[in-house]
Amino acid sequence: MNHCIDFYFFSGTGNTLLVVKRMSEVFQSKGHEVHLKRIEKSMPDDVNTECTIGLGFPVAVLSTYDLVWKFIKELPDVDGTEIFMIDTLGGYSGGIVGPLKSILESKGYKTIGACEIVMPLNIFYIQDSTVNTKKVEEGLLKAENYALSLLNNESKWGHFPLLPEVMRFISKMGIRLTATSVHQKILKFKVDKLRCDKCGICRDICPSNNIKMGEYPLIGNSCEYCMRCVSMCPFNALVSIFNYQGKTYSAVKPKEFK
Ligand SMILES: Cc1cc2nc3c(=O)[nH]c(=O)nc-3n(C[C@H](O)[C@H](O)[C@H](O)COP(=O)(O)O)c2cc1C
Ligand code: SF4
Ligand code: SF4
Repeated sequence: MNHCIDFYFFSGTGNTLLVVKRMSEVFQSKGHEVHLKRIEKSMPDDVNTECTIGLGFPVAVLSTYDLVWKFIKELPDVDGTEIFMIDTLGGYSGGIVGPLKSILESKGYKTIGACEIVMPLNIFYIQDSTVNTKKVEEGLLKAENYALSLLNNESKWGHFPLLPEVMRFISKMGIRLTATSVHQKILKFKVDKLRCDKCGICRDICPSNNIKMGEYPLIGNSCEYCMRCVSMCPFNALVSIFNYQGKTYSAVKPKEFK
């Protein structure tokens, strides 16, 4: 690992952010200089290829969000720059690590480690806080150990060639489907006007600038379904069909994303 580590990450509701921060603390405790960079605010061309590069992101639809893929695909070609990844997930990732390794190696990166960390599910069925707290503790412990394994040159980036490619294809189709305007309209979150206090937090934290403020928030058609706005609205005023019984999950406060 180089002295300098540029850690690019995307986090919808904070799980990945917690993991990335914990890993950074480990790197810093061993004397490394770490720069945390949010993918949604970064340009692939600006990546410093003299540093070791980290990538952190959540699993979404057996893959990850389009904005993350876009960033990764546009990373510059290099000659042996070290790169590692972590993803956080509710249970099953579809094996994104394999296809990602192929893409990065074709660009000339040296893939030094990949790790998938189970954290609380932030969509569909939200578990109770005791279960989620335990998952976070276990996830952060795994993150610490992974960071140490990277520092000790003991980490690995496995590659499982067949099934992940199939899953990646299925996932790509799924993500494409959710991006169509028909689906964006069908799946659009509703604003509960009795609850909304017009604070604008949802607009300020949306990574794809998909929310404008009229009298109330106006949600557009370029949602990535990261769940950040729904989960972090202080008044629980965004209603989504993805949240069973309206329960939401977030690992951090909205100010982390402003
Ligand atoms: C739209 C969406 C799709 C998801 N798809 C998966 C999935 O395919 N497999 C999985 O294990 N978890 C899935 N999850 C759960 C997240 O990967 C998990 O909760 C993650 O830790 C969230 O990280 P974040 O808080 O950094 O956004 C999904 C979450 C969302 C919002
Ligand atoms: S964050 Fe919630 S309360 Fe604030 S404007 Fe958005 S929907 Fe309304
Ligand atoms: S509208 Fe909400 S769920 Fe969609 S991208 Fe923005 S913050 Fe994420």
